[in-house]
Amino acid sequence: MTAVLENSCAPFATVSGSDLQVPLVDGTTCTYANFDYAASAPALTEVTARIAELLPYYSSVHRGAGYASRVSTAAYEKARITVSDFVGAQHDSAVIFTRNTTDSLNLLAGCVPGDTVVLDIEHHANLLPWRNRRVVVAADSISETVARIEAELSAKPAALLAVTGASNVTGEVLPIRELAALAHRYGARILVDGAQLVPHRRVDIGDLDVDYLAFSGHKLYAPHGAGVLVGKRDWLDAAEPYLAGGGAVRSVGIDHTEWAPVPARHEAGTPNVLGVVALAAACQALVAHEAAGSVEHERALSTRLRNGLASVPGVELLTVWNDSPDSVGIVTFIVAGYSQGEVAAYLSAEHGIGVRDGKFCAHPLLARLGCADGAVRASLGLGSSDGDVDRLIDAVGTLVVDGPSWTYEEEAGWWNPVPDPRPFPDLADGAAGVGSPCATRTVSIAS
Ligand code: ALA
Repeated sequence: MTAVLENSCAPFATVSGSDLQVPLVDGTTCTYANFDYAASAPALTEVTARIAELLPYYSSVHRGAGYASRVSTAAYEKARITVSDFVGAQHDSAVIFTRNTTDSLNLLAGCVPGDTVVLDIEHHANLLPWRNRRVVVAADSISETVARIEAELSAKPAALLAVTGASNVTGEVLPIRELAALAHRYGARILVDGAQLVPHRRVDIGDLDVDYLAFSGHKLYAPHGAGVLVGKRDWLDAAEPYLAGGGAVRSVGIDHTEWAPVPARHEAGTPNVLGVVALAAACQALVAHEAAGSVEHERALSTRLRNGLASVPGVELLTVWNDSPDSVGIVTFIVAGYSQGEVAAYLSAEHGIGVRDGKFCAHPLLARLGCADGAVRASLGLGSSDGDVDRLIDAVGTLVVDGPSWTYEEEAGWWNPVPDPRPFPDLADGAAGVGSPCATRTVSIAS
């Protein structure tokens, strides 16, 4: 079914699990094809190497007098400089390490001195935390969507415009520079949810004039539990600490507390030095990979994936806008005649292909796209290859033409092969059937 390749796209970089063998329901095994980078990307070898380098020194941060503790502290603070440089942060910005993008956005939500304007297409992480949110319903075109945002900002002052850099459902990229200028024209600041954009494109907040940027290590090839909030320090310094505890204070008495300024103010507790150093290593590696052509590599794979899936009868690709200038390597689709959960279960059980299905923690967007049953998402990254892409397109084509070779049943919102003879390794055995809260419940955009 797949066309002969003109330009071969081998994996651009080596990631963990690149030769993972997974069982199929027919008793055979195959190499795993990972199409779930948008949820959690595997670790780059540069990241695992940095972790191995740091582990012998692993010790307390900002607390110990020992040599290992001093090295850990310096590595942690050097990571802050690396991340600051990676995003082009300016002198009035702070880099605060968090757990992930959701954590970063919740932190900032507690610092915003007024209303926040958001679009209805957002991931729940960039929708639910904003305390005084005003939701703008996106139009069919980006140009009209920008006009609607302008109408909202001009009708009533807002403190913040919070937008995604790239949709976690469709991969479509928003015009960040234009939106930053728009927000500033009406006296608002702009926050970019960079969870899906930063792993695929350089985001220089100084150049784009962006006030706040949040992103996650686990989508940036550094799955070690750290995330980032970068941005203007005045709001962050004026707010209550995100977590109250050790490390966030200058002094404490029985009846008084003097809080530290950022970044310490919002980093109470023992920091995740391994996660932060891993994240910084990923930033450095991404700069090198981008200089070597990783963005072009992804574009070629992405085009091949979109065209290939679109050529399969009964397959529909989802988009929000009809004038998107750019998309990252995220393709979401539905297969007519099937529950989309069954499609995902089939791809895993019969072809060793890992995708995500459901509503992607973006229920309002899936509702407006008419996908009450959810959809299937295939997302690419540095370890993706044309061979993987062809396997996915062929597997979907086989499903459409021949149907599945196994039986699948839904239980509690999750589709599974029945029976499922695939064994789990010891580390996971005994916990099968664990589901996602994002898959089934409903979120309203009303504030
Ligand atoms: N936010 C992640 C996703 O879109 C988990 O899959």
